[in-house]
Amino acid sequence: MRPVTASTSSALRSWTRHTLPTSATSSTSRFAAVAAATTASPSSSQRRLQSSESGASSFESPFQHAKYDTTKIPSFKNYASKSSEVSNRVFSYFLAGSMGLLAAAGAKATVQDFLVNMSASADVLAQAKVEIDLAAIPEGKNVIIKWRGKPVFIRHRTEDEIKQAESVKVESLRDPQADSDRVKKPEWLVMVGVCTHLGCVPIGEAGDFGGWFCPCHGSHYDISGRIRKGPAPLNLEIPVYDFPDDDKLVVG
Ligand code: FES
Repeated sequence: MRPVTASTSSALRSWTRHTLPTSATSSTSRFAAVAAATTASPSSSQRRLQSSESGASSFESPFQHAKYDTTKIPSFKNYASKSSEVSNRVFSYFLAGSMGLLAAAGAKATVQDFLVNMSASADVLAQAKVEIDLAAIPEGKNVIIKWRGKPVFIRHRTEDEIKQAESVKVESLRDPQADSDRVKKPEWLVMVGVCTHLGCVPIGEAGDFGGWFCPCHGSHYDISGRIRKGPAPLNLEIPVYDFPDDDKLVVG
């Protein structure tokens, strides 16, 4: 290969210098254009970055443009009563008193309803007392009535039976009780007809003592209903009763 001459080399160098700045200039101008465009319209990420860097929030409060100052105490003049203070107070007392009366009446009605609901019903009250016509019971006879679900013996005793009941030595009885303590009128003996052993109903005009006999376990009661023999521990119970008239008996 032939060596390049000095004149040729200098011509080549000057051409290269002439060409290179041209391409460099164009790329530089391209970068400058992109940078200008970027500066003119920053992207959203750049805006977010800028705002976070500056400390400003993107939230817009609906109250930031409020017309009124919330620290001021509002005036209620338009709502204040036009009447005097005394009349206002009288009206307040009247209103409070009326409300109190109404509340008391309501409470009373509620409590009364509750108590009435808890009390015994009419059919139970009807069973609480039983009235018996004594004229229908001949002397020497027994009548059994039902009272509060239990049998009640009513015995129209004869003179002999009364004497027999009164002649018993009270000290000798298992459940000591004088006949006079068990009757209000000697001729009328009224007892609950439930054996005091285990609750059977004794049979009248039976047993060793002319009174009642319980067949369940063999308890004997005398003509006053006192236990005389057998396992029963107590005399037959005397219920609450009264004689409103000579011929009327009320049990209960
Ligand atoms: S229940 Fe009457 S004697 Fe036992």
